[in-house]
Amino acid sequence: MDQRHIIDLTGKTALITGGSRGLGREIALAYAAAGADIIVASRKIQNCEVLANEIEAMGRKALPIAAHIGHWEECDRLIDEAYGQFSKIDILVNNAGKSPVYNKLSDISERLYDTVLDLNLKGPFRLSSVIGERMAAGCGGAIINISSFAAIRPRAHFITYAAAKAGMNAMTEAMAEALGPKVRVNCIMPGPFLTDVSKAWDMKAFSKRADDLIALKRAGNPEEIVGAALYLASEHASFTTASIIRVDGGSR
Ligand SMILES: NC(=O)c1ccc[n+]([C@@H]2O[C@H](COP(=O)([O-])OP(=O)(O)OC[C@H]3O[C@@H](n4cnc5c(N)ncnc54)[C@H](OP(=O)(O)O)[C@@H]3O)[C@@H](O)[C@H]2O)c1
Repeated sequence: MDQRHIIDLTGKTALITGGSRGLGREIALAYAAAGADIIVASRKIQNCEVLANEIEAMGRKALPIAAHIGHWEECDRLIDEAYGQFSKIDILVNNAGKSPVYNKLSDISERLYDTVLDLNLKGPFRLSSVIGERMAAGCGGAIINISSFAAIRPRAHFITYAAAKAGMNAMTEAMAEALGPKVRVNCIMPGPFLTDVSKAWDMKAFSKRADDLIALKRAGNPEEIVGAALYLASEHASFTTASIIRVDGGSR
């Protein structure tokens, strides 16, 4: 095979938020397999340490950091700790996110509203701003936001989440302009994936919906996020920025 077509992240350092489980974990393992060193951040340090050990066993460097991405000052501490150990960050994946359930609109307290917007939008904004400017002042880099199909098909049971992810889509395009030409900023917009979040789904109802509304008639397996994440992090995406890539099985 022509070696130029192989994705090689040797010498790169990637920071992945929410890298301890689900889609973030698959991305972290794929980047490490492609040669990158990994900084993995989530709230629970033990989960980050488990992944860091796996990555070190692959011969890569790994740094686990506990941080709540919804808090501005924790994002700043995460950045300081990351640059304390690595001279540069080449790839930032803003993956940590979630969508809490609620029964009716008036159950959404100010605190819950803020929690959803802070984790899914404010934290990624802060990390992209500070790390992105450092990338732009240095060797450049790639920022990959993980939003959601909910951003373009908002539904009643995830209003604040959909708004935050739509904001992330908008932020992707604006950050690409702000940080170009040395930094590329792109977004992956996943549809339904079988991670821990799917444990709460009514699978019978989901299967019926998938039959009607998903071209591939199923949810994604976590490793199916990897192709897009590898592409966007790599030199193969050198002319791709401000893009939003759907990885959703053809959801409608
Ligand atoms: N799975 C889907 O169907 C789906 C669909 C569309 C979009 N997405 C998006 O894809 C991304 C990954 O989802 P997933 O399904 O892989 O989720 P997941 O399996 O629930 O994993 C979430 C990850 O984020 C971390 N996390 C949660 N809250 C955090 C916080 N406040 N600060 C820092 N880290 C935090 C978790 O670790 P800790 O618990 O240790 O903090 C975990 O590592 C999310 O942005 C989600 O919105 C998922």
